[in-house]
Amino acid sequence: MDTARPHERPTAFDRMLTPVHRWIWSDTDRRVHKLLCFSETETDGGRDILRAAEVTSDPLLRRLYLEHAIDELRHGVMFRHRAAALLKTSPFRSNPWFQSDWLTPGGHGLDDLQVDGESDSNMLAFLHLSEKAAASRFTVYRDVMQHDPPTRDVFEEILHDETFHMNYTLTQLARVEPKRHTRHLWRARLSRLWKAYLRLATGLAGILGSTLLTIQYFVLLPPFAWLAKRAARREHVGWTIVSPGRSEALDRQY
Ligand SMILES: [Fe+2]
Ligand SMILES: [Fe+2]
Repeated sequence: MDTARPHERPTAFDRMLTPVHRWIWSDTDRRVHKLLCFSETETDGGRDILRAAEVTSDPLLRRLYLEHAIDELRHGVMFRHRAAALLKTSPFRSNPWFQSDWLTPGGHGLDDLQVDGESDSNMLAFLHLSEKAAASRFTVYRDVMQHDPPTRDVFEEILHDETFHMNYTLTQLARVEPKRHTRHLWRARLSRLWKAYLRLATGLAGILGSTLLTIQYFVLLPPFAWLAKRAARREHVGWTIVSPGRSEALDRQY
């Protein structure tokens, strides 16, 4: 697909994280891992948009969604091929200790997409914001990839499509909902914000849970272990003689 508009500028937040992205993408193993993850995200997004093309009753949207889905599926193949090419030149050593998936997400957030039951306007608002996020992040990823021109070219080409996706979804939203498209965009923004909060809260809950369990293991368990050992030392070794009168009851041991 082609675009008549300039590329999206990265958001201030993405720009601020540029040094972190540069460091993350500098490692070949991490790069391969990320490219494979991105490939999966793009392919899944393509399938969901294909489903959107099936359920919409708007003929123009159906055609645009189909082209969009083809683009996303192609992006998935491009990322996978680049990861394979990197693997050929530098064999994957092991699992990198720091994957940082939450710091360098695939861009779209298309994994949150719920196609069935969504109106065209909600779908377009969601897609627009997702593509805008992708364009912003891919701009930064492209810019930090100076040391790897082939990967940089992959991001450059994909960025071109993402910018088109970002623009056509906004244009179509304004066509489908000429008066209320801003309201749809804000609703989609709040929904993305809420989902981002939930993801952050889930991540924090996981960290807090692990920390508390570790503290419990090292602080609370030792006294119980000590008490159990002390009780074990007080136990008589071998058989214990029970007086005849105490062993006749059927509802207790002694
Ligand atoms: Fe894409
Ligand atoms: Fe896209």
